[in-house]
Amino acid sequence: MANKKLALLGGKPILKKGLTYFKSSMGKEEIAAVTKVIKGGVLSDFVGRAGEKFLGGKYVKELEKAYCKKFKVKHAVSFNSATTALHGAIAALGIGPGDEVIVPPMTMTSTATVILQNNAIPIFADIDEDTFCLDPKDVEKKISDRTRAIMPVNLFGQAADLDGIMKIAKKHNIKVIEDNAQSPGAKVGKKFAGTVGDIGVFSLNFHKVIHCGEGGVLVTNDDKLAFHAQLVRNHGEIVLDDLKDNDTVLIGTNYRLTEVQAAIAIEQLKKLDFLNRWRVKLAGRLTNKLKRFRGLIPAKVRENSTHVYYQYAIRFDENLAGIKRKTFADAIKAEGFSLGEGAVKKPLYALPIYQRQTIYKKGVKCPFSCPYYGKEIKYGKGLCPVDERMEEKELLLTPICTWPLTEKHIDLFISAVQKVFDNIEELKAYEKNRA
Ligand SMILES: Cc1ncc(COP(=O)(O)O)c(C=O)c1O
Repeated sequence: MANKKLALLGGKPILKKGLTYFKSSMGKEEIAAVTKVIKGGVLSDFVGRAGEKFLGGKYVKELEKAYCKKFKVKHAVSFNSATTALHGAIAALGIGPGDEVIVPPMTMTSTATVILQNNAIPIFADIDEDTFCLDPKDVEKKISDRTRAIMPVNLFGQAADLDGIMKIAKKHNIKVIEDNAQSPGAKVGKKFAGTVGDIGVFSLNFHKVIHCGEGGVLVTNDDKLAFHAQLVRNHGEIVLDDLKDNDTVLIGTNYRLTEVQAAIAIEQLKKLDFLNRWRVKLAGRLTNKLKRFRGLIPAKVRENSTHVYYQYAIRFDENLAGIKRKTFADAIKAEGFSLGEGAVKKPLYALPIYQRQTIYKKGVKCPFSCPYYGKEIKYGKGLCPVDERMEEKELLLTPICTWPLTEKHIDLFISAVQKVFDNIEELKAYEKNRA
């Protein structure tokens, strides 16, 4: 066959043109909804003052109601991103100087920076190599008398081991904030991911399964936490006197979602199940077909849970495959497919803010050296060995299960993988020459 030779080694690629992985799911429904808002003239209906408009306008409230209904929770509080919603969660729980919060190092940077934003300390616990989510065994080891919360990240489309994490949280009387930015609609038993912990946070940013450009939603069944989140979202300090609230201690800001974004998000939420079903179907085909290749181990779907495949994650075992991850990824990319090596390229704690422990100005190490903390914190190499191994050598991510790609694209991707394994000896020689 003409294209038996790998494109990486001078042959013809399987795809002449790259695929579009992030097609917008905006349609006539979103256009109609936005048009209605614009014609109505009220693009945002929040007022930072006690009264009806403290909680936002018609579409914001409708979106929150729709999240409550869909995810079976008592409260939903919209924010202008998942990052600000995560910060809202930290602040709502009253986490601050001297406190520690446990997070995984494989996540978007904001899962950890929102902790620093409230002058608390992120403590990194390792991930599980089968699911890439927080490992409860390491969480237990990282608990201290300062731990106030655990933030599991429901990564790539499935929930972390929330049963294990909730058990630890109950035992130590600490809170759980689920970062569910990547897993809307995934299930854990009968519950939705994001609704098992005390607070869950969803993202509506452009790259997520459903979106409104930028946006986030915090969900909780706790009345007080919902109220605190609403205060953080909209300059809450201004209303405490009016509400005769002498107990609440927090500072608010402007984390408000506009009516335009809310109107889009309402329509997008209606499309979530369709978009998830699409991904799950393609992922099922991919998992089946990957079985015949040694060294490509798809993310394990935890028992009693569902995975909605925001990303399709594979653990690459170079000993079984016979070549290094980089060689494999280069070969697949040369065939025309997108393939990510690692999630954030290195553990979050390797970033300069943790290495230098400086975030405000040079010479000032707050909050790491805050007198309220009074402990020394180290973010050295080896802190989370599984995460480091996944980032450096093993994790692969493909967006091939994304709507509107089809089973045909899955099969083309598999033919690229087959081509790599058919040429494994040539690739070993290629690696040797480059060493
Ligand atoms: C796991 C995770 N947490 C938080 C965020 C932040 O979301 P947003 O962009 O809505 O602030 C993201 C977004 O990429 C994410 O993937």
